[in-house]
Amino acid sequence: MLYTTKYAPKKLDEIVGNNDKVEQVKQWILKWLSGKKSKALLIWGPPGTGKTSIVYVLKQQFDLDILEMNASELRNKARVERILGASSLAGSLFGRQRLVLIDDADVLAGRKDSGGSTAITKFLKDPSCPVIVTATNIWDKKFASIRNECEKIEMKRVNKASIRKILKDIAKAEQLDLSDDTIQQIADNANGDMRAALNDLQTLSPSARMHEKDIFQMIRNILKATSYQTAREAIEGDIDYDSIKLWLDENIPNEYQTSEDIAAAYDALSKADVFDGRIRKTHWKLLKYSIDLSVVGVALAKKGVYRHFTKYNFPTYLREMSRTVERRAMLKSIGLKIGSKVHTNAKYSLIYLPIIKDLGKTQVSELIDFYKFTEEELAFILGTSVNKLKKD
Ligand SMILES: Nc1ncnc2c1ncn2[C@@H]1O[C@H](COP(=O)(O)OP(=O)(O)OP(=O)(O)O)[C@@H](O)[C@H]1O
Ligand SMILES: [Mg+2]
Repeated sequence: MLYTTKYAPKKLDEIVGNNDKVEQVKQWILKWLSGKKSKALLIWGPPGTGKTSIVYVLKQQFDLDILEMNASELRNKARVERILGASSLAGSLFGRQRLVLIDDADVLAGRKDSGGSTAITKFLKDPSCPVIVTATNIWDKKFASIRNECEKIEMKRVNKASIRKILKDIAKAEQLDLSDDTIQQIADNANGDMRAALNDLQTLSPSARMHEKDIFQMIRNILKATSYQTAREAIEGDIDYDSIKLWLDENIPNEYQTSEDIAAAYDALSKADVFDGRIRKTHWKLLKYSIDLSVVGVALAKKGVYRHFTKYNFPTYLREMSRTVERRAMLKSIGLKIGSKVHTNAKYSLIYLPIIKDLGKTQVSELIDFYKFTEEELAFILGTSVNKLKKD
């Protein structure tokens, strides 16, 4: 299970950072619940700061019924009017307070609009139920009409200390063997994005699997090594060689300062890579030569030792993989399900996605019956949300 799901905040006080803003949102919903109207809220700020989470926390904590609209629906005037019109029946069937969520509304601002935006603006002027709009960038001219109808709440990047504390708690709960240094680095790298921090913590656990010396220390030892002996010693024990190469690849230019040293280090690394391509999966005994080329080669590529303190970065490749982990997991499971029906492998079967998306316009339940897609998977294929899928 993804940490972002497993450790998603369930109560308002579990939302990290922006405490005053969270309190403001709480007072706003309490006012609605006490029967008084107020303006729609525009919760805006950088990704992974809890804008969408806050709405789902409200749902749980105050037992609300959420009506979610996504950006593509906003472009259709008739649809906006139909949905928002329905929401004016103050509560849902079960007497719960309804809250309309217009998530990532700025995505619509840059696109051609067929009156949906006007319909929303009109609705926002005098909302008949609580409405929360979320966005990342609200200063686009095209977004002005929506922006001006809302009370704005800016979510700031989550501060490093708070991120570090959460990561520490999770690392403990998950029994990850991570040093404070590693946790600090993940928090630094996240740049205020909680989602990125949690995904990094989860995907980069090859470093968690490497006990004893953590990977930052290992990379430091390699890059500071000045002899064959010390370079080899740096990687003793249980290592993940592929990720070490990625780490070196990323950090050579952080450590080495002259272009000659940098060029020589990359030369060693690329030779190791060619070598590995040839020995892969067949001649593991040859791996020791590859380590001589890569680890030792990189270490000894420099003319003298660099004494400065270097801040090492996560490999871009691993970071990208961690950022797309949700999407890739989804595509894989969809691919397997299609593949089992069309008798091909999970990857190739994705060429059927456009056809399935087209069928999805009219045959949602047939698709679920036949391919055994979950609602989340089908919503993903159709580019919509589960809520909307159910309503149609
Ligand atoms: N302030 C926070 N406190 C605790 N967890 C958080 C916080 N912000 C984000 N997260 C974690 O990151 C995940 C994604 O957060 P969320 O969807 O709320 O971000 P967002 O601000 O809506 O980002 P985007 O702009 O990309 O839509 C959550 O499920 C949760 O696990
Ligand atoms: Mg969001």
